[in-house]
Amino acid sequence: MRTKRQIPAIGLGVYKSEPGPVTQDAVREALAIGYRHIDTASIYNNETDVGDAIGDSGLNRADLFVTTKLWNEDQGYDKTLVAFDRSLDQLGLEYVDLYLIHWPVPVLRLDTWRALERLTLDGRVRDIGVSNYMARHLSEILDYAAVVPSVNQIELSPYNYRSRLETIELCREHRIAIEAYSPLTKGRKLDDPVLAEIGSAYGKTAAQVLIRWGLDQGFVVLPKSVHANRIAENFDVFDFQLSGADLACLEDLDEGLATGWDPIDAP
Ligand SMILES: NC(=O)c1ccc[n+]([C@@H]2O[C@H](COP(=O)([O-])OP(=O)(O)OC[C@H]3O[C@@H](n4cnc5c(N)ncnc54)[C@H](OP(=O)(O)O)[C@@H]3O)[C@@H](O)[C@H]2O)c1
Repeated sequence: MRTKRQIPAIGLGVYKSEPGPVTQDAVREALAIGYRHIDTASIYNNETDVGDAIGDSGLNRADLFVTTKLWNEDQGYDKTLVAFDRSLDQLGLEYVDLYLIHWPVPVLRLDTWRALERLTLDGRVRDIGVSNYMARHLSEILDYAAVVPSVNQIELSPYNYRSRLETIELCREHRIAIEAYSPLTKGRKLDDPVLAEIGSAYGKTAAQVLIRWGLDQGFVVLPKSVHANRIAENFDVFDFQLSGADLACLEDLDEGLATGWDPIDAP
C-alpha cells in the first residue's frame, strides 16, 4: 500500500559520489551523524554502495528514507518494471521510500508513470514522484494520473528560483512536495561574498546559508558531499533561521543558473 510519509528535510545527495568506498563512507558518515534520507539514482551507479552502507548502519529500516530514480533509457511500461527490480536488487532493500522518474522523456513518460503506479501496489515502493518536471509536464501528468506524484525534485537555489515559480505554485496547489537538488550550486557560488556576509551574522557558512534558504522555502534539501566535515556542516542548519531581510537579499541573487540540463524548455 502507498503510504504518504514525512520526508526528512535534508537528504544526502550522491550524484557524482564515486562508487565503492567513497560513497559507502559518505553514506555511513551521514547516517552516523543523523541524516535519515539518502538520494540516489540508477544513473549514479552507486545504489549498491548506498545499500551496503545502510545495511552496515544497524539502523531500523523504518527510520530511513531512501530515494532512487528511473533513468531515461529505461522509460516505457515494461522497461520501467525491469529497471525497478534491478535498482531494488542493487540497493539490497525490500522497498524504496520514493521512486522518481528522473527526467520527463517525451512520449514515454505517461506509460512510465502507469508502471510506477503499478509498483505502488505490492509494497515495494512507498511513494512515487517525478523529477525535472516543469509546470507543463506536471499539468500533463495531473490530467492523466490515477496517483498524483508525491514529489517533484528540481534544481533550486537562490541563483535559480524565479524561473521555477510557476512550477512551485502548481506543486503547492496539488500538495506535491518539492525537493531542491544542487542546492549548493555544485559548489560554483560558495565563494559569493553575499553568502559569506549573510552567514557571518549567524556564525554559519555559505553552504549552510544556501541549505537554510531551501528549508525556509519549505523545500526538502539535498546537499551532496563526500567529505565528513562538510556532511556534518551541511546538517548543522537547524539552529537558525534567515531574517526577512536576508531572504530578500538572497532572492536578488537569481540569475537563472542551471548547473546541469535545464528542463525549462524540455518538450
Ligand atoms: N534529479 C536530478 O536530475 C538531480 C540532478 C542533480 C542533482 N540531484 C541530487 O541532488 C544532490 C545534490 O546536488 P549536486 O550533487 O548536483 O550538487 P550540490 O549539492 O549543489 O553541490 C555539491 C558540491 O559542493 C561541494 N560541497 C558540498 N558541501 C560543501 C560545503 N559545506 N562546503 C564546500 N563545498 C561543499 C561538494 O564537494 P565534495 O563532495 O567534494 O565535498 C560538491 O562538489 C545530488 O547529489 C543528487 O542526489 C538530482
